Amino acid sequence: MRVIEAKDYADLSRKAANVISAQVILKPHAVLGLATGSTPIGTYKQLIEWYKKGDIDFSAVKSINLDEYVGLMGDNEQSYRYFMNENLFRHININLEHTYVPNGVAADPEEECRRYDALIEEVGGIDLQLLGIGHNGHIGFNEPGQAFEKTTHIVKLGESTIQANARFFESIDDVPRQAITMGIKSIMQAKKLLLIANGPDKKEIVEKALYGPVTPSVPASILQFHPNLTVITCFE
Ligand code: F6R
Repeated sequence: MRVIEAKDYADLSRKAANVISAQVILKPHAVLGLATGSTPIGTYKQLIEWYKKGDIDFSAVKSINLDEYVGLMGDNEQSYRYFMNENLFRHININLEHTYVPNGVAADPEEECRRYDALIEEVGGIDLQLLGIGHNGHIGFNEPGQAFEKTTHIVKLGESTIQANARFFESIDDVPRQAITMGIKSIMQAKKLLLIANGPDKKEIVEKALYGPVTPSVPASILQFHPNLTVITCFE
């Protein structure tokens, strides 16, 4: 594992964008695993800037997002599909048809999970997966206590996740209670992982995840076993 301490959030974002852009330069038809949340916003902004300068070409890239709320349509401003379109996809030359986010309103959510796993296989697996980390150690929506081996599945969100995500909704009651998420197994199968964590409030959980015991009660702790993990932190 490589752990890189960034000077500040702008530095973290630039460093993460550098890793992603190196992946795309080295393999123009790369499959990028992407995340939502506040941490990657600066990374996406940086990628957009370099794209606009002509430094990166996303035309052959495919992307697979980690997760989506159950019950939200892609045009709902709180959906992760909407987030990705607004914060990255519509500003770069990626083919929207090659951007995948779980369908939160699939008629049969279980079938949607199977379809998503098949899709990951079909595109040849994920070359580089970007990850954030929740205060409870979740990655994607893999909440503490779930089995490590899971592929894409439906989760009931934990109380701390509902509260953390309430900031994006009008009221806490509007936060969906379920999500579809890539599982720990799907994440661990990515060829490279890039975990980004920003802010003093993430320090304790990142240290637990990277240096503590590997346990389902800290889902991100499994990342210690990944052969190609890069972590970029800024705890200022
Ligand atoms: C989002 C996701 C979540 C977030 C995590 C951290 O797709 O999978 O695991 O990465 O909740 O969120 P932020 O970056 O908002 O602190």
